[in-house]
Amino acid sequence: MTEVVETVAALRAQVNAWRAAGLKVALVPTMGALHEGHVSLMRAARQRADRCVVSIFVNPRQFAPTEDLDKYPRQLALDLDKLHRAGVHLAFTPSVDEVYPEGFATTISVGGPSAGLETDFRPAFFDGVATVVAKLFVQAAPDIAVFGEKDYQQLCVVRKLCLDLNLPVEVVGSPTIRDAEGLAMSSRNAYLSPAELEIARKLNKALRKAAAALQVGADETATMATARQEVLDAGFDGVDYVEARESLTLAPWRRGAEGRVLVAARLGKTRLIDNVEVRKT
Ligand code: PAF
Repeated sequence: MTEVVETVAALRAQVNAWRAAGLKVALVPTMGALHEGHVSLMRAARQRADRCVVSIFVNPRQFAPTEDLDKYPRQLALDLDKLHRAGVHLAFTPSVDEVYPEGFATTISVGGPSAGLETDFRPAFFDGVATVVAKLFVQAAPDIAVFGEKDYQQLCVVRKLCLDLNLPVEVVGSPTIRDAEGLAMSSRNAYLSPAELEIARKLNKALRKAAAALQVGADETATMATARQEVLDAGFDGVDYVEARESLTLAPWRRGAEGRVLVAARLGKTRLIDNVEVRKT
């Protein structure tokens, strides 16, 4: 059975006991509404460490007032069942007050990879993510932490956070889990109607086509314009961005370098993000 703790003190007591016994600890930070993508992160964590902690916390600081904080899917009982079946040792399910007690006044702002892309549309998002992830790393003191490549910019921001603040946590990126038609697993897919799901499934196809075109030397501006049009033609209501960036730094992509094509597109009330690799040539 997965043990559940709600306080930082109880989390620390358990992790300290494991570390004192020489056990390696992995953390998988989540906001719950767990799906196959999360389970794959837990699997990666369990392969690399002796003990796996999963945090479930819908972090208010990474939602803008206009975003879906209130309607973000919350299903703790189902999630705990999934953790149990995935062999997770400890669930950390703090309250908002436990994470942000009265008077909390610190924000961590990571530069570098947070520039552009998501930040152009969600300006406070990475400050919220970096602040809660830094807190979780200090609270749980894990040896490693696993994040999905699906949120690729987030993964780069967390890596930079650890590098710049000398946080002794190895950040592991885990490949995106997709359905049979390539749709990236996301908690927000739960918002999609059956008709929207069919449209959403076309997003990764446009991305893959763009990445393949860049790999064989196609013009970057024209390729991104084509990808944008294909996403709109598929039925999306708008494309916030579709851009090629370098894999490690998220600086603008240089021809021949290892990169990522990243997209954010709107479908009804849902905003989907995805990315695919551009191989080094
Ligand atoms: O990717 C998420 O679910 C969240 O951004 C994270 C990393 C758990 C921080 O709240």
